[in-house]
Amino acid sequence: MNLENSQPDPNNPPAVPAPAPKPAPVAPPKPVVTPEQVKASQAIVAEPINRTIADAAKPAGSEAAAPDLESMDRRAFIKWLTVGWVAFIAAIGGYGAMFLRFMFPNVLFEPKQSFRAGFPDEYPIGEVSERWKDKYGVWVARDNEKIYVLSTVCTHLGCTPNWLGPESKFKCPCHGSGFYKTGINFEGPAPRPLERFKIYLADDGQIIIDKTKKFQQEKGEWNDPESYLVV
Ligand code: FES
Repeated sequence: MNLENSQPDPNNPPAVPAPAPKPAPVAPPKPVVTPEQVKASQAIVAEPINRTIADAAKPAGSEAAAPDLESMDRRAFIKWLTVGWVAFIAAIGGYGAMFLRFMFPNVLFEPKQSFRAGFPDEYPIGEVSERWKDKYGVWVARDNEKIYVLSTVCTHLGCTPNWLGPESKFKCPCHGSGFYKTGINFEGPAPRPLERFKIYLADDGQIIIDKTKKFQQEKGEWNDPESYLVV
């Protein structure tokens, strides 16, 4: 085949190649970042940067847990602050109580040493009254001539004897000492009689018993007119 001699046939022109189809318009790529994400990023940028050295030292990816750790730290701090305040207030209260205790020491309230004991008629002849035994520690006895006051303290070791009316004597429960109605000791280890106290009449006719002045039989003090009341 001789290509140099080949002439185009006017009646049969060669086919003109069809123009290439126009490429379809390419839609612009959708933005990867949504408007919401843009807003969020703007908010983050606007937020003040408060990162500390400790924050910077945190490993990457720990930012999400940071708020929880912060709230836990705050709760723990408030908890320990409360505990501290409670301990502080308790300590102050303790010191206050100690101070008050120091300012108001124990005071021994003893019964009055001098008191009104009623009228002489209230004490029958021949009897021992225990009316003031518990409150003032005395017996009031009356014989045919006088009224006298006996101490309820045993002269052995200080126990309180009992008055035994039918036996007409005082008997100490501790070691068995016995005392007559007059107070004279007659049995047991008691070395001496019971003591007596001052007795006299007030202006209104009532008996006054004064325990600040005592009389001891072995010293001859029972003869003192202040140690009895003539009735
Ligand atoms: S104390 Fe009363 S007999 Fe000893």
